[in-house]
Amino acid sequence: MAEREPLILGIESSCDETAAAVVAGGRRILSSVVASQVAVHRKYGGVVPELASREHLRQIVPVVREAVEQAGIKLAEIDAVAVTKGPGLIGALLVGVTYGKVLAMALGKPLVGVNHLEGHVHAVFLEAHSGGRSVQLPAVCLIVSGGHTMLYQVKSEGENGDGRHSGRFSYERIGSTRDDAAGEAYDKVAKMLALGYPGGPVIDRLAAHGNPKAIRFAEPKMKGNAYDFSFSGIKTAVLYHLRRNPQLSPGIEARTQALSRGENGADELRALSNQETLDLVASFQRAVVDNLVSRTLASAEQNAARSVLVSGGVAANSELRRAFEAESARRGIEVFFPSRPLSTDNAAMIAAAGYARFASGERATTSLNAEANLPLA
Ligand code: KG4
Ligand code: ZN
Repeated sequence: MAEREPLILGIESSCDETAAAVVAGGRRILSSVVASQVAVHRKYGGVVPELASREHLRQIVPVVREAVEQAGIKLAEIDAVAVTKGPGLIGALLVGVTYGKVLAMALGKPLVGVNHLEGHVHAVFLEAHSGGRSVQLPAVCLIVSGGHTMLYQVKSEGENGDGRHSGRFSYERIGSTRDDAAGEAYDKVAKMLALGYPGGPVIDRLAAHGNPKAIRFAEPKMKGNAYDFSFSGIKTAVLYHLRRNPQLSPGIEARTQALSRGENGADELRALSNQETLDLVASFQRAVVDNLVSRTLASAEQNAARSVLVSGGVAANSELRRAFEAESARRGIEVFFPSRPLSTDNAAMIAAAGYARFASGERATTSLNAEANLPLA
């Protein structure tokens, strides 16, 4: 009889989603439950750390229970608990780390601490595996979310007997944002334009109806590392554009009213946005996407990468996906994205990253700590 694949319970609480998942053998998702706090933070236009911690405390037990139930297993059958130890909001991380420790101890199972960013890398591998594709390494990985815009080189740390990589990777940092994360820029521009929170999904939908060439935003001028990013300049450029164009204000006022009535759907907000506003949104998105795609692909060429991986909440963006597909095809390099549910924060990616560490014998002790600024490399 084939050996049973180890079952890893993943727990994620680094930002504003409380998530738990059960993954078999680091590759097969048996369940993935995500409790989003978007509704709690929406009226503040961003994540409020204290509220996030409180929500995680409320959600963690039922979310883990649901993940175990949906996987059709008993809690006692899991082989290890993998929990996000950082980076993220310290109070939020502490809820998951503390619960993970106590649960592992109570069950007498090993505990593995996982870097959230490594989880985002594994989300790509989970998806590739379920689609029957294999990722060729070394790769360049862009992690692009509300909290991060990071570019890493990813190398394999050894292979399985069958020639597949072991799932243990080494990382080298190629570049990162000097100021705002790309998702943060989406959220801040959405706030200026009264397009609700989070801004990414609505801007994604509205941009499809605007002319992305209507307004030219200058490329950020960067000294030093050519693979660093910067998004605060474009955010300020949008602000100045709004000041110079007061005719856009009545639309903003109308959408502010709509949002306060709870009308936050993309279609409702689009109906209150004139062509000039849609053009602004499309031009903003084009500038962000061009920047992410051109720097990532240039670094892939420079590092002789065999594939490009794109993960994190902003990887859900349709234009980003389209642009990466088109440009990478032109340059003859393969690009991999997670599905949309695996792009945004989830615990299946934490379980998958934890599995690779568990399989290579790594164990955390009860002294495992949450680290707000934990680097990947
Ligand atoms: O990875 P994530 O769920 O949480 C972290 O920040 O770690 O990412 C959330 C971010 C938000 O800034 C949100 O606006 C952005 O991802 N986002 C998008 C899209 N969906 C989510 N940005 C652009 N287009 C989207 N379709
Ligand atoms: Zn994330």
